[in-house]
Amino acid sequence: MPILAILRVFSSTSRHRVFSSFQKPMDNLAPPKPGARPASSFVCDKAFINGEWAAASSGKTFEVVNPANGKVIGSVPDMDATDTDRAIKVAYKAFQSWKETTAKERSILLRKWANLVSENIDELAKLLTSEMGKPLAEAKGEITYGGGFLELFAEECKRVEGNIIQTHIKSRRLLVLKQPIGVSGMITPWNFPNAMITRKAGAAIAAGCTVVLKPAEDTPYSALALCDLAKEAGIPAGVLNVVTSSRNNAAQVGKTICESPLVTKMSFTGSTFVGKLLLQQCASTVKKVSLELGGNAPFIVFESADVDAAVQGAIGAKFRCSGQTCVCANRIFVHESIYDEFVKKMAAVVEKDLKVGDGIDPATTQGPLINKKAVEKIEAHVQDAVSKGAKVVCGGKSKGGNFFEPTILTGVTNDMRCAKEEIFGPIAGIIRFKTEEEVVGLANATTSGLAGYFYSRDLSQIWRVAERLESGIVGVNEGVLSVPDAPFGGWKESGLGREGGRYGIEEYLEIKYVCMGGLQ
Ligand code: SIN
Repeated sequence: MPILAILRVFSSTSRHRVFSSFQKPMDNLAPPKPGARPASSFVCDKAFINGEWAAASSGKTFEVVNPANGKVIGSVPDMDATDTDRAIKVAYKAFQSWKETTAKERSILLRKWANLVSENIDELAKLLTSEMGKPLAEAKGEITYGGGFLELFAEECKRVEGNIIQTHIKSRRLLVLKQPIGVSGMITPWNFPNAMITRKAGAAIAAGCTVVLKPAEDTPYSALALCDLAKEAGIPAGVLNVVTSSRNNAAQVGKTICESPLVTKMSFTGSTFVGKLLLQQCASTVKKVSLELGGNAPFIVFESADVDAAVQGAIGAKFRCSGQTCVCANRIFVHESIYDEFVKKMAAVVEKDLKVGDGIDPATTQGPLINKKAVEKIEAHVQDAVSKGAKVVCGGKSKGGNFFEPTILTGVTNDMRCAKEEIFGPIAGIIRFKTEEEVVGLANATTSGLAGYFYSRDLSQIWRVAERLESGIVGVNEGVLSVPDAPFGGWKESGLGREGGRYGIEEYLEIKYVCMGGLQ
């Protein structure tokens, strides 16, 4: 197995304070272990089926590359429909016994899993940075976030309750049970290689379901590391199965999951385009579907806002993960009375505090984009905006490899690509507005509805706008919102269902009405 040259031990990490709210301590979980396993021990060259490390039936593998330097980290199995089918059968068999376990039994195992994630946080973060590119401190934040879902669902599974409905026929009793839905197929993205897995699989396993999961081809190692720790925690064979595949085989793995009659639930995080395709495929077996798709988040700064706080919020909402999150601010609307001040202050922070580089360097705040195609897309967005009259205030260029400068554009209008499409990169396009009515209309004039943000100190306006924004998540005077305990999901074409919080587990439960008759 090739050694991860990039995985060097750093004794400390630092990052700009605007990103720090994403990294809360796992204060009631086990602290990092001084003797935790080295990150290289998590670099596994096999997928995970039935509690065992598994090669592809074809014997094929594909390479995983560090986006910061293009170096090959290692290879993992390039699985196909046959392997996926095998994993589904294994998960179906395991479901027959896993669904009979008590919530308490599942809770204990999830808690052990959460503790192991917490104990190995430093090494998991290095692994994550090496395959995905986000700065080490952000990677640590993600592992904390990811472990937080396991901790949360270890608790929530004990709170799944049915109810008894009032009867109008005396000889009957009407009961409602909640039961695990069954084998749950999952397809997870590269931008959160750890937390999107625990957010889905943690909920499913807590509910009593079993899992077949395909991680993004760019980031399989974080998924396999989680399998390793799940096994160590005592999660039984077949409950969690991870099928790795290259981009070439991704479509057949996804289709097999979506069309299998043994899989009764499918959960996907990724692009709206692929989400729609998977939804169509799931129609053939009428699966319950959760989708967390693309966004086009408005970030509004009203005239009453604390401009400095709004700048800090915009930096976090825009540049976290180099702009590669579904909830990143996509269109920054600033009231005309404070527009110039906001732009000047935001540009000063970008130029002074944001540092582009390899995420493994503790000074880096902006890691690489995931690949060359992503850089080309960002370049095209800048060119399109400039050709339509936008001005580059800072950044605007690639820095070689997969790196792109954090960029601010002014004079952005709603017909530019960076306002109409999900950017998924470090471009902050700033749009001027005059009235609340106008900006709320513009904010909602999109088919997406995942997150929305605004800064205001006018209490009536805060209530009005929070209620009027058409999105599943709203940040009021906050730029980084994601926490395990809150429901995450979108309106309109941004998705179906919710993840996280007590809502997350409901997605993996079926409701059963039991009518008990003939009672005296
Ligand atoms: C995503 O980008 O899909 C998830 C972002 C988050 O959980 O904050």
